[in-house]
Amino acid sequence: MVVKLTDMKGKMVVKDPVLVVDDEVEMRIAMSAALKRCGYPVELSHNAIDALNKFRKNKYSLVITDMTMPKRSGLELLKDIKAINPDIPVILITAYGTIDTAISAMKHGAFDYVQKPFDFDTFIFLIERALSFKRELGVGTAKIEERLKKGTGKKADDEIPEGLLTKEIITDDLNMKHLLDVAKNVAPSKACILIQSESGTGKELLARFIHNHSDRADRPFVAINCAALPENLLESELFGHKKGAFTGAINEHRGKFEQANGGTILLDEISEMPLSLQAKLLRVLQEYTIDRVGGSETIAVDVRVIATTNRVLLECVEKQTFREDLYFRLNVIPMVLPPLRDRKGDVSILASYFVEKYARINNKPLPEIHDDVLKVLQNYNWRGNIRELENIMERAVLLCNGETITVSNLLMTPVSIQQAVASAPRTAASEKPPVESVKSKDGEEEPMILALKVGISMAEAEKQLIFKTLRQTNGNRTRAAEILGISIRTLRNKLNEYKDAGETIDF
Ligand SMILES: Nc1ncnc2c1ncn2[C@@H]1O[C@H](COP(=O)(O)OP(=O)(O)OP(=O)(O)O)[C@@H](O)[C@H]1O
Ligand SMILES: [Mg+2]
Repeated sequence: MVVKLTDMKGKMVVKDPVLVVDDEVEMRIAMSAALKRCGYPVELSHNAIDALNKFRKNKYSLVITDMTMPKRSGLELLKDIKAINPDIPVILITAYGTIDTAISAMKHGAFDYVQKPFDFDTFIFLIERALSFKRELGVGTAKIEERLKKGTGKKADDEIPEGLLTKEIITDDLNMKHLLDVAKNVAPSKACILIQSESGTGKELLARFIHNHSDRADRPFVAINCAALPENLLESELFGHKKGAFTGAINEHRGKFEQANGGTILLDEISEMPLSLQAKLLRVLQEYTIDRVGGSETIAVDVRVIATTNRVLLECVEKQTFREDLYFRLNVIPMVLPPLRDRKGDVSILASYFVEKYARINNKPLPEIHDDVLKVLQNYNWRGNIRELENIMERAVLLCNGETITVSNLLMTPVSIQQAVASAPRTAASEKPPVESVKSKDGEEEPMILALKVGISMAEAEKQLIFKTLRQTNGNRTRAAEILGISIRTLRNKLNEYKDAGETIDF
């Protein structure tokens, strides 16, 4: 079905249908009705496999998918879709309390996410935003993401008014101020820095701050995510490769270390670096020379290394997934950014900062923030930290029609706000609330107890524990890996092993 139409305001032309994927028939009907009322052509799908088949055959302007579905999750569908066509915007629908998954979805290229329950206006607003971004820029979402940075709707640097690009670290917190003083003091040295903090706390921002305060500031700052690439590609991305070093190495390639020469390299998510590469990195840090893959010469590099991780890296050392010698080599200057819930004093100044930033970016008059908004923000348990606050304030600016941002502009339902407020004091720094029961496939509450028959092997017991934990987290692998105390890479490898052995992985 291909329809050409104009929206109510006469500016949105959508040729291809919106694909809506949800296993709950009521949700499919409600979303379809809402979309059709606004004149969008719609196609429906009841699971990720069917949706992917449809996606392969037809053209769509946008995909909206539920996150938690039997067999394949919305996150897996997102990755499949991005692998086929990175330009199609995908919006994820998440349940309350799955903010980690939502953040992970954003990292995997989701255009946006919306938490259930949501209202009609919010839903249509997000859809219009996704479609209009695509149209206005005349490019696919892969490019938009590059330009808008991490898909949160931020404009490319050259489109942002002057003064907002300073990437300032906003804080009034004493611990943070002390940390920034330390950062300034150590910036001029070449010593390795290890920043270990929760997701969204500003690790990359701090790394840039250190670079900007060093005498390398006019040299490159190069970042690489160690979790994003498979081992062989990561090696050639880091160290470069010679022409013909492997199939596909058509040209010579300068790796990130060479690109960062004279400047700073940020090794993001360092805990996810495979052990074999850790050995190579250690050698680079000892000798400050690199060997390109397939090359014969050794190239000297002058690079300041900053590594970041969301994990406690020493625990990875204890579990032998991270080399102890590399840990000590990197951890010359350890730094920890406090999570936002431990610097509540920063919430309101950061909220005001982001409101100003997004009002200017979107050419809107600067709105006030209602006191109730500040109260809600103050009491919220910021598991997604500053990134989550930034996303919420950006939306609030876009949703705010009048002169004041109100609680309804936060897109947090009263229920989720109350739940968040109620759970906030009980949740300690890195502690995650335990899950005591889970809904089985037929909707029944099932206690989270793992009964093991005596007589099974350790490997079998491990498999059962992994499966049960994944069911508990609704297939959220990051969360499952956290609960199990293993890296996401180890979990992925184990699931692949089970899959190869003929197991159905249907989380
Ligand atoms: N103190 C701050 N002042 C202003 N903006 C901030 C501050 N801290 C973080 N941010 C903003 O919050 C977002 C997340 O920060 P950043 O990417 O540095 O976090 P991170 O810890 O590296 O996250 P992740 O672990 O997910 O990679 C960015 O847009 C950043 O500019
Ligand atoms: Mg980061």
